Amino acid sequence: MEHFESKAAIEAYIRALGLPATILRPVFFMDNLLHYADAEGERLVELPVLPDRPMQLIATDGIGRIAAHVIDHRDDYLGAELEIAGDELTFAEVAGIHEKVTAVPTRLVPLPIEGDEGRVRPGRRLNRGEAEVGAGDGKAVVAAVAHTLESAGHPGQLGRVGRRRRFMSEVFYSHARLYDLMFPGGGPAVDFYRAQANRQGGRVLEIACGTGNKLIPIASDGHPCVGLDFSSDMLAEAQRKADERGVAVEWTQGDMRAFDLGRTFDFVFITANSLLHLHEAEDLVSCFRSVRRHLAPGARFIFDVFNPNVRLLAGADGVRRTRESSSFTDPDRGNVSVDVAETYDAAAQVTRGTWHLSTDSDPDFVVAPLEIRSIFPQELPLLISLGGLRLIERFGDWSGRPFAMDTPLQLCICESA
Ligand SMILES: C[S@@+](CC[C@H](N)C(=O)[O-])C[C@H]1O[C@@H](n2cnc3c(N)ncnc32)[C@H](O)[C@@H]1O
Repeated sequence: MEHFESKAAIEAYIRALGLPATILRPVFFMDNLLHYADAEGERLVELPVLPDRPMQLIATDGIGRIAAHVIDHRDDYLGAELEIAGDELTFAEVAGIHEKVTAVPTRLVPLPIEGDEGRVRPGRRLNRGEAEVGAGDGKAVVAAVAHTLESAGHPGQLGRVGRRRRFMSEVFYSHARLYDLMFPGGGPAVDFYRAQANRQGGRVLEIACGTGNKLIPIASDGHPCVGLDFSSDMLAEAQRKADERGVAVEWTQGDMRAFDLGRTFDFVFITANSLLHLHEAEDLVSCFRSVRRHLAPGARFIFDVFNPNVRLLAGADGVRRTRESSSFTDPDRGNVSVDVAETYDAAAQVTRGTWHLSTDSDPDFVVAPLEIRSIFPQELPLLISLGGLRLIERFGDWSGRPFAMDTPLQLCICESA
């Protein structure tokens, strides 16, 4: 089992026991940096990491202090999942700081992953993901812990914990108006989710709602609707469109990896492959668990992700090509051509793309990464059940055809387990 997946599996096991628990999530122990080798007047910090990728670090002493505080105040923390960090640095920065403090020339030696004595599986580095500093569900309690530590004379121990998380495709979604021109709403997906909301009745929550292409039509049918998204630009455009149409929707900024809206809904959905912005299995499980906490009795949760075709995935060769189907006309700029270059990271199951938007007079006026995971058919039900949900049905397209190896979608109908 992969390093990070093993953490998710342990958390899932603890939850399955049904015992009251609080989960503390440190990433890298600062104490690991005490193990180094000295060679020819140089200090070598040897780790299976990428030198320029930031990573959260925490001293084990800090974890102990936080754990002691949580245990002393158990009623305040029961059920919370807290991401804890003392700092966030690249390992190149770590080596630089070490050298400055000890005056010993220090060099980071990134160890190869392959054949790494079983410490990390092939192709997986400890800090291979994007830099993430989490707050999530535990924001308020983390702030409380930080305050307590500061009053106890340990300032800075949690200095970075409350910071907002980032995600790789944030730049892509900061062009909300262009997004809508590139992917105009409407079509069978809107009809499908609208019909499901009408069938279910009651309150509706769309997670990763973007500019509201599905949610605004649903709200116009009279359902009380909440839309949650990470991107303030997408939400601002959603608000503008809803106001223009005279439709009331509550738009809220949040991270689907961990959110708490303090109420339940009769219908919750995540559409247009949005879930695939979560690349780590533990993030997908954590998202499903957050969804579950928001399901009213009898509620349904529906999401769609594409059905990965290994031939197509493996064909991503990194060559920049024009994508005619995405090219569009911008009333301000004229014809916009869209080029995409993609590679496929098979170990991470992630297609890493760079999108280039150009006009004749302004080539590459937007260059933005977009990284989309694949969820393979056999792993999908496992992730759902680890999230405390039950997969009732899996359709293969918007007409409700059963899922099969050659259908375009995995359209999943779920309920609380
Ligand atoms: C493909 S768009 C889909 C938008 C909308 N659901 C639709 O159908 O048009 C993906 C959306 O997911 C949002 N997103 C990505 N990661 C997120 C996260 N961790 N939490 C919440 N929203 C996220 C992006 O900001 C973007 O608006």
